[in-house]
Amino acid sequence: MINIEVNINGEDYRLEVEDDLRLIDLLRDKLHLTGTKEGCGEGECGACTVILDGKSVNSCLLLVAQVHGKRITTIEGLGDENNLHPIQRAFLEQGAVQCGYCIPGMVLSAKAFLDTNSTPKREEIREAISGNLCRCTGYEKIIDSIERASE
Ligand code: FES
Repeated sequence: MINIEVNINGEDYRLEVEDDLRLIDLLRDKLHLTGTKEGCGEGECGACTVILDGKSVNSCLLLVAQVHGKRITTIEGLGDENNLHPIQRAFLEQGAVQCGYCIPGMVLSAKAFLDTNSTPKREEIREAISGNLCRCTGYEKIIDSIERASE
C-alpha cells in the first residue's frame, strides 16, 4: 500500500491505495466518479481521458502512485446538468452526442486544448481530439461543437 495526496475536482484527498491501482479504478471504483469511462484499457480510445495538471491524459495508463501531489479534473468537475460548462452546452446544442460513451473524454480533451488555444483552426481541433475515438457520429458535429465553444 502507498499513501498519496491528490486534488480531484478542487477537493484534496489523502488516500492509502494499492501500489498497482490504476487512476481510472481509483476514480470509478473508489471515488464513484463514474463519468470517466473505460473502453479499451490500453491507451487507444480516450474514453478514460481526464485532465492532469492541465494536460489531457488516459487514466487507464496511469497508476495512482504517479499522480501524487497533482491536480485532476474529471467530467464531474466541469459542470452539471443545472450548470453546464460551455463545451458541454455546445455539444448538446450541436447534437454531437449519440451513445455518449466517448463524450466525457472528448469534452475533457477539448477543455485542455481550448485552455491553451482559444482561437483554434478546425484542423487543430481535429488533431487535439485525435486520441478520442467515437464509433457513432463521425466527428464533424463534435468538431463543430468545440469550434462553437471557442467563440
Ligand atoms: Fe483508456 Fe481506452 S480506456 S484509452
